[in-house]
Amino acid sequence: VSVDITVIGSTNLDITATVPRLPGPGETLLGETLTHSPGGKGANQALAASRAGASVRFVSAVGSDAAASQALALLEADGVDLGHLLRDPALPTGTALIAVDAQGENNIIVIPGANASLDGAAVTLRQDVVEGVVVLQGEIPADGVDAAVAAARGRVVLNLAPVIELPRAAVLAADPLVVNEHEGELTLAQLGQDPAGLDEAGVVAALREQGVASVVMTLGSRGALVSDAAGTVEVPSVSVSAVDATGAGDAFVGALAARLAAGETLVEAARFAARFAADTVTRPGAQASYPAKGAVSFEA
Ligand code: RIB
Ligand code: NA
Repeated sequence: VSVDITVIGSTNLDITATVPRLPGPGETLLGETLTHSPGGKGANQALAASRAGASVRFVSAVGSDAAASQALALLEADGVDLGHLLRDPALPTGTALIAVDAQGENNIIVIPGANASLDGAAVTLRQDVVEGVVVLQGEIPADGVDAAVAAARGRVVLNLAPVIELPRAAVLAADPLVVNEHEGELTLAQLGQDPAGLDEAGVVAALREQGVASVVMTLGSRGALVSDAAGTVEVPSVSVSAVDATGAGDAFVGALAARLAAGETLVEAARFAARFAADTVTRPGAQASYPAKGAVSFEA
């Protein structure tokens, strides 16, 4: 089977508590609800790309435990190709402990578990199945991401969330690099340039001057800055009443990749991705909140 997009990245089972407000250090707080739902930045992006209309292969490492099937259930139901997963016999499926407050803001602690096994050797073993637009994040070992960049024959969408230490060439292979402002500053520092004194647009311009072909800087409810050879454009977001922002950034990346794979320009793809991501913020959970195919609200 050939696919439009290969996502290589993490799978987690998200254990989410809703709380009236996020707890401080040393504080015990009574929460309201507890849910287990599919998450992990890689898996979230794979589902978002599929829901946005792309055919998707997902390469990831999970445990040989019950959490793995819970974590993969929505991808499986969506028909995402899971034929090249690594099932680690010794490590548990990744877990994220998440608190979501009444404003939809969150705190997340990730225990990588089996995600740590998706290293350079594991990715290189699967290099022949890396097809189409390649989507990567920072929740697997850096040498796994680097091996995926090396295996990519198509465009590389690199979401440095979180920022990990990559060889300069891997960062410069991104087209686009997708980061928030903080991640953009850290990436610039990693490329050897001090971000001090630069505003958002300044960081984007500096990343491009360092040699990154295109950059998308996500600005949360303010939308995104999109910069490529055609220029730099501000893409607005849609204002929504926020329930849970978990995985909204991943929804943006997956939807962006799907539209790029379908041949849209970076700005067109980012406009769609911003609406897709805003839609997910109105419902609880990460993947559980992603719109069905063709059902994105806030269509322009
Ligand atoms: O980006 C959101 C995701 O971060 C969650 O689904 C959680 O699993 C962590 O990986
Ligand atoms: Na959500």
